[in-house]
Amino acid sequence: MRITALSIADLRIIRHLEIEPGPGLNFIVGGNGAGKTSVLEAVYVVGRGHTFRHASAGPMIRHGCDASTVFVRLRDDDSGSEHQLGIRRAKAALTCRLDGADVRKRSALAETLPVQWLASQPQLFLERGPEWRRRFVDMGLFHVEHDYLPAYAAFARALKQRNAALKTGEPAAVAAWDEPFVQTAERLDRRRAAFVECLLQHAVVVLDGWQPGFAVSGRYRRGWREGSELQAELARRLELDMRTGFTSVGPHRAEVELLTDSAAPAEKTLSRGQQKLLVIALNLALADRMIAERQRRPVVLIDDLAAELDSANQQKVVAALGARDVQAFIASIADPTALCPPGAPVFHVEHGEIA
Ligand SMILES: Nc1ncnc2c1ncn2[C@@H]1O[C@H](COP(=O)(O)OP(=O)(O)OP(=O)(O)O)[C@@H](O)[C@H]1O
Ligand SMILES: [Mg+2]
Repeated sequence: MRITALSIADLRIIRHLEIEPGPGLNFIVGGNGAGKTSVLEAVYVVGRGHTFRHASAGPMIRHGCDASTVFVRLRDDDSGSEHQLGIRRAKAALTCRLDGADVRKRSALAETLPVQWLASQPQLFLERGPEWRRRFVDMGLFHVEHDYLPAYAAFARALKQRNAALKTGEPAAVAAWDEPFVQTAERLDRRRAAFVECLLQHAVVVLDGWQPGFAVSGRYRRGWREGSELQAELARRLELDMRTGFTSVGPHRAEVELLTDSAAPAEKTLSRGQQKLLVIALNLALADRMIAERQRRPVVLIDDLAAELDSANQQKVVAALGARDVQAFIASIADPTALCPPGAPVFHVEHGEIA
């Protein structure tokens, strides 16, 4: 899927902005506060139904306005069919429309317009809590395996029910939920473990191709003791879990560990730029799997590519995006001429408008 037209209204500094992006790399250039991240944010919001910015960045809706709206015209790579997707984010409600019909589920937005987001410091992905990496794996599986969402939803339901039963203080009520919990957990675990193994192998190949001067490996930790049955772990922790009202083992406690060749955590050993390259490689590996498994190309959003990356590494990332023939929006403070492939559009932004 590629965006052929993008229209944004009343989103942060942007009052009204329209562009017709190219099918490949697009550069969004401007000074600090010009609105570059806001353009990327608009594309993300129309693909996910929510912003990537933390609540501390304040409201997304432009001050004094009732709602932000984003509208995109899309072209399907395979069929050549055209689609229109729009969202309106008011203070209390999100309205989404695809080809004139209401869209009720955010998953339908993500299915229509898969976006990958690389913040100016994507390496924070390695430092933050495990839920960030679980979310990456789950979102990746959602995009790569079309029937993953029901498996994930079934597990989430069983977890919620078991936690509710724990809060009743009745062991028999908890026991009734053990079987659905274990079944859905093991199903999810098998899919995640296989997916992560394949993704990490691929990311290592992408990274090695850049000859970055370091090596990494990774492993998926499933959220309960190795060599132990989940049912036995639930029984072992029942008393503790009844006290807290929360199931303390299972796929909701899983983790993806990334290690350097000295078996030390990547976030503690690699330089900032090396960490950034690693996270970009993981995202490219995911894009490759989407393309290979489902013939779907994500739209890649990269904020401030130059931050922490030397020019040789910036070139490598740009070449890797070009080789995958994905559409990308790359925000930059500096003149991107040295990075730009011939013919790539450059949009200059000032005070939230195209200059
Ligand atoms: N709700 C809002 N209404 C109006 N303006 C806002 C709102 N939220 C943020 N802003 C302003 O929008 C601008 C932020 O734009 P944005 O983050 O897109 O800039 P940028 O070009 O990415 O800058 P940088 O290079 O510093 O990252 C800031 O000037 C900020 O004060
Ligand atoms: Mg910015």
